[in-house]
Parts: sequence; structure tokens; C-alpha cells
Amino acid sequence: MELFKSYRAPKDSKVTIGGTAYPTDEWTNVPSSIIGLADRKPRLYLDSNHPICITRKLIEGQFGAPEYKNHQIPNPVVSVHDNFDVLGFPPDHVGRSRTDTYYVNKDTVLRTHTSAHQAQHFREMDSDGYTLSADVYRRDAIDRSHYPVFHQMEGARLWDRNSVPQGKLAEAIWKDVEALPKHDIKVEDPNPTFHPERNPLQSEFHSPEEAEAVAAHLKRSLEGLIVQVMSKARQASIEAGDQASSDSQPLQVRWIEAYFPFTSPSWEIEVFWQGDWLELLGCGIVKQDLLNNSSCTSKIGWAWGIGLERIAMLLFGIPDIRLFWSQDPRFLSQFHHSRINHFRPFSKYPACPKDVAFWVKHPAKGFHENDVMEIVRDVGGDLIEDVKLVDEFTHPKTGRRSLCYRIVYRSLERTLTNMEINELHERVREKLEGEMDVELR
Ligand code: DAH
Repeated sequence: MELFKSYRAPKDSKVTIGGTAYPTDEWTNVPSSIIGLADRKPRLYLDSNHPICITRKLIEGQFGAPEYKNHQIPNPVVSVHDNFDVLGFPPDHVGRSRTDTYYVNKDTVLRTHTSAHQAQHFREMDSDGYTLSADVYRRDAIDRSHYPVFHQMEGARLWDRNSVPQGKLAEAIWKDVEALPKHDIKVEDPNPTFHPERNPLQSEFHSPEEAEAVAAHLKRSLEGLIVQVMSKARQASIEAGDQASSDSQPLQVRWIEAYFPFTSPSWEIEVFWQGDWLELLGCGIVKQDLLNNSSCTSKIGWAWGIGLERIAMLLFGIPDIRLFWSQDPRFLSQFHHSRINHFRPFSKYPACPKDVAFWVKHPAKGFHENDVMEIVRDVGGDLIEDVKLVDEFTHPKTGRRSLCYRIVYRSLERTLTNMEINELHERVREKLEGEMDVELR
């Protein structure tokens, strides 16, 4: 698919990320604004008074030594092999496309998830389990819960067949399940642990008893985490005087079936939060091929991946994901390591919505919304709160598509002037027309 023109990097040029220069090619699509975020110091998850770091440590506390080792991996540049191939992503998976992923060059990307480090960690593991936290990057929509850089934590726990008498693996895992802390939350889990079509057992490698035991350990461990996180979130909310949470109902948690190329069976966990089911994490029983390719042929285990911003937004009552990147002392000074308190908004500055409408000149050539997002972000940066398609139609005679996007401009830190917004909007319009295959209306 054709991307917009500014992404055609000059031949033989280089892009520098974290002090290392990488050659660019026709795949390169990392804008300088993203490199700026990748290079930002201190890293949010290592900055002890930052909500992202406090959240990381809270979760690490549930998956601590000696059973788990807790890692952080500052360099976000990984190979396409590690980010996708090793994990079994099919060649045509949308995640691989240049509209969804930031390519440094054809063979190198900004990691789109912490799972990019699974194979290497399995290979080098010297504990039963680990967690791993890092910044991850995705070309995506712009709204209050999506930002092109965010943070994930990955957890994994393996058991070695060779360390127990033959045929006793499931029993040994169940012993570990029994040793986990219990909770008294009602959890909905209506589906069987595995299902031949929807969520298959890896029957070539695992007995049903083994998979049941691993699944039970995974689910009990994560339910413990969710109970801990949600009770802290609720407590912070009550301390902040939020009436809705102080008379709220008991915590509701449910497991649903999911799909990931690197686990089977797979699940997601959701909690009922402010009137909606909110997805908190993905997980499953690690594909045995992945373990076998990572020098772990005698091992079986589980893995999960969680978005730290989503948890931090719950814990700290942070309403907009851009705030995590704010350098405004009115934001940063509100948080202190090992304390979970609700964010007090300094002020709500006015929002200014502006529409831009255009014809897609050659619809057949391909048009991707994420390219619109990238252009808007490139011009407006953190002054953009939301970008949404508000109108769309196809001309009955010419077959051309017309799209109208509403861009909401709002600073988190001050009131924007009309002149400033008009100027930004004009630059967005020019850039859309100059760099994409569109005609403004
Ligand atoms: N990498 C997945 C994502 O970004 C999350 C995930 C799912 C991680 C399952 C895992 C896993 O380790 O086993 O959506």
C-alpha cells in the first residue's frame, strides 16, 4: 500500500534512535516526533514518581522475586523477526503493515509489543518466571486513550518436565496453584479451558490435565493482580471523594476467549468499570513451537501482556493519555512513588473542533486513516485531543469517496488562541493535500 510522500526517505540516509544510526530504505516511516518520544529521558516507566513507573512497580510486586525476575528494556528498536516472525504472525497479518507499525527499515521496527522479547527471554531465563516492561509503538487513532507510544508489561511462567517425575507435571503445577493467594471475587468464566475450534489445546504437546493446570495457575495469578489493582483504584477514588465509586457494586471480572499467534488457548480478562466492560490484558498458554525454538523443549508455561497506561488511568483517575507525557509541574508534582492518589485536574481548557473534508482521488490505490492521524499528529502534536471520521459518502457517478474528519484541538495546559488553532488547521489541510492522494473540499 502506498504511504504518503514524506515517508519516502532519501536513499542512503540514516535515522538515529537512542544514539544508534540505522540505515533507512523505502520501508522507513518513523517520523521525527516519534523518535523524540523514543529518546525522551527519563523514561516514564523508570521515573520513580511518575504514574507509569508507580503502576509498573505495583504489578511487579505481585510477580516478584525469587519466582519472577523483573526486567526493563530501554531500547525500542527490534528486528521484524523478533517482533513478528518468531511469534508466528502470518505474513499477511495487519500488524505487519506500514500503516500500523513504525518501520526503521525493512528489517527493523519500533517494537509494537513487549512480546518481541519473549523468545530471547525464554532462551536466557534463569528463574521460573519473569516480567518485562518497556515502551511500545503503534500507528493508531488519536483519542483520549490512544497515543502512538505507550507501555506494556509482559509476564511469563514456565515449568520444566525434567524437574518432576514422569507423568507428574500437572500435579506439580497444581501444587503451585494451591500456594497462590486466594481471593473472594466472583469471576465469570463460562467457557471450557479449551475448545477444538475456538481455542484449541496444543494436543500434540500438552495433555488436557497439563493445560488445565497451567490455565488455572495463569488465571488465579492474574485474578490476584486485578483484585489488587481494582481495590487500589477504588480506594484512591473514594479518597478523592468520588461518590460513584464509594457506593459502587462489587468488583465484576470475566474471562473471554481470545486469539494470539503465540498462545493457544488464549484469553482476555475484562472488568466492569464505570458502566462498561474494559479489556485489561491478553494471555494464554505459550505455543510450544515458540518454546522449542527458544531452547525450552522440556518446558510448558503461560504468558500475558498488559497495557500500563490503561491500568494507570484507572488507578490515578487520569482522563487523557496525553497527560502521561506532560512535563507540566502541575501534573508531575501530584505523584509520589508508592502512593496511589487521584489526579486533580488543574483546569479544563476549552476544546476547539474543526472539520476537514476531502475527496480520496484514487480510492483503488488505497487510503489508510492512520496516515491522516500521522499528519495531524505531526502538525499538532499534543494539542490534538481527538480525530474522528464524522461523515463519509461515495459519489454516485464518479465513484470517488468523500471523507470528513473532525479534529478536536485542546491543550491540557493552557487556552489556545483562535489564531493559533486556525494556523494549525490550515497547516493540517495543506499537509493532507500535499502529502496524500486527496483533494480538499
Ligand atoms: N502482545 C499482546 C498485545 O500486544 C498481548 C499478549 C497476549 C502478550 C498474549 C502475551 C500473551 O505474552 O501471551 O496485544
